[in-house]
Amino acid sequence: MAHILLVEDEDVIRSALRRLLERNGHAVSEAGSVQEACDQHHLDDFDVIISDLRLPGLPGTELIKRTPTPVLIMTSYASLRSAIDSMKIGAVDYIPKPFEHDELLSTLSRIISSGQKSRNQSRMQPRPSEEPVSGMVGSCPEMQELFRRIRKVAQTNSSVLIQGESGTGKELVARALHESSSRRDSNLISVNCAAIPENLIESELFGHEKGAFTGATNTRTGLVEAANNGTLFLDEIGELPLEAQARLLRVLQEHEIRKVGSVQSQKVDVRLVAATHRDLKQFVREGRFREDLFYRINVMPLHIPPLRERGNDILDLADRILSNTCKRLGHEPMRYSADAIQAITTYPWPGNVRELENAVERAVILSETDEIAIDLLGLDVELVRYDSKAAYAAANPARKVPETMAIEGDPTEDLSLQDYFQRFVLEHQEQMNETELAKKLGISRKCLWERRQRFDIPRRKKSN
Ligand SMILES: Nc1ncnc2c1ncn2[C@@H]1O[C@H](COP(=O)(O)OP(=O)(O)OP(=O)(O)O)[C@@H](O)[C@H]1O
Ligand SMILES: [Mg+2]
Repeated sequence: MAHILLVEDEDVIRSALRRLLERNGHAVSEAGSVQEACDQHHLDDFDVIISDLRLPGLPGTELIKRTPTPVLIMTSYASLRSAIDSMKIGAVDYIPKPFEHDELLSTLSRIISSGQKSRNQSRMQPRPSEEPVSGMVGSCPEMQELFRRIRKVAQTNSSVLIQGESGTGKELVARALHESSSRRDSNLISVNCAAIPENLIESELFGHEKGAFTGATNTRTGLVEAANNGTLFLDEIGELPLEAQARLLRVLQEHEIRKVGSVQSQKVDVRLVAATHRDLKQFVREGRFREDLFYRINVMPLHIPPLRERGNDILDLADRILSNTCKRLGHEPMRYSADAIQAITTYPWPGNVRELENAVERAVILSETDEIAIDLLGLDVELVRYDSKAAYAAANPARKVPETMAIEGDPTEDLSLQDYFQRFVLEHQEQMNETELAKKLGISRKCLWERRQRFDIPRRKKSN
């Protein structure tokens, strides 16, 4: 049995709910407004508060700030925006009106059995960890854990391997590590290993002596040396050729570099941070990546979750990006329409935060009012649809997918992202080139190429 406070101004609904709850063995107290609830009851004594969102005076979400007791917000689908807002403020759940009795009771028993109250108590204490670099958003448990690790690892000299899908923020994490470390006053040198032509990688990284090869007209300092006393960030380390891997290993083992064409070594003190979207273990098995180097750099692995798995962080990011973009482009502040919010929270964001940034910037430029409508985001409707079930379910594992989200006869039902990707590519590759396909999927060509490899969907050879 739980002790429940019911805050609802409509008598008919309130007494019906009271009967339902009492029939199921709960003790119920009532109030008609937030004010009345606070004046007549001691909010902390209840196990759960069920409150309507719209009430005379203050909205039901006001209760969330006043007590650690979990607050279940009731709202109509018409105000989905408010529902999402209340989740952001910290409501444990929301339930759309009109609701099925079973749905209410099962939500309620989940809240009671999950010990939400003690968790909310800790929510009311100061937030345990702040963003490790300014502007880095992340309140979900996975990101909070990542922030904690960044702060811990930053104090050490251990090599770090950052893994995450494209656009998840690998470079940002590298910067956070540098800026939270005692090396912050020296250089952070970022090198994209995939962007340097293979025959130049060694001289770029380690420098060269005058005359070491044709075209080497002067002695040159390499990037590793430039990072001395600071941090060397090797992005896309999986693309590093085997010879360069051997030399890098030497730097890590002996803290020395030797310029191309030189017989002398010199000492360097760099902290290595590497990133990749590749499965480096698999690369090791295939002989494309040195095992000894892998173990050297994988001392402290950091995994960045894809955006679609970050729950309400998506909306926090969308809000932050929107206000930054408006400022940058000299626009008045703008807001999202309700259907745009729904699309943002349910779209699977294959290109992660970068894709979200691009979508918002495009929308701000195209919008002729102060509202971002769903179509301006340019999201692939098929993906939004796909997602409205699968991603909603992924982001809200405990909740039933609302019926309004189900698309009748939706053939994409129950597809995984991989299945979806595979089907989409196979169905469209005859009519579209790679650039068009990537655009339609909202990802870069590079990312499309990577996914083709990862999911083993080779490009069809065009027969002319
Ligand atoms: N948690 C976050 N909060 C705020 N902005 C973020 C966050 N994560 C990423 N971004 C922004 O998203 C964009 C992409 O991030 P970044 O370049 O670090 O990703 P990446 O993983 O290195 O991408 P790629 O794999 O394509 O190289 C950047 O503009 C970055 O500032
Ligand atoms: Mg990057």
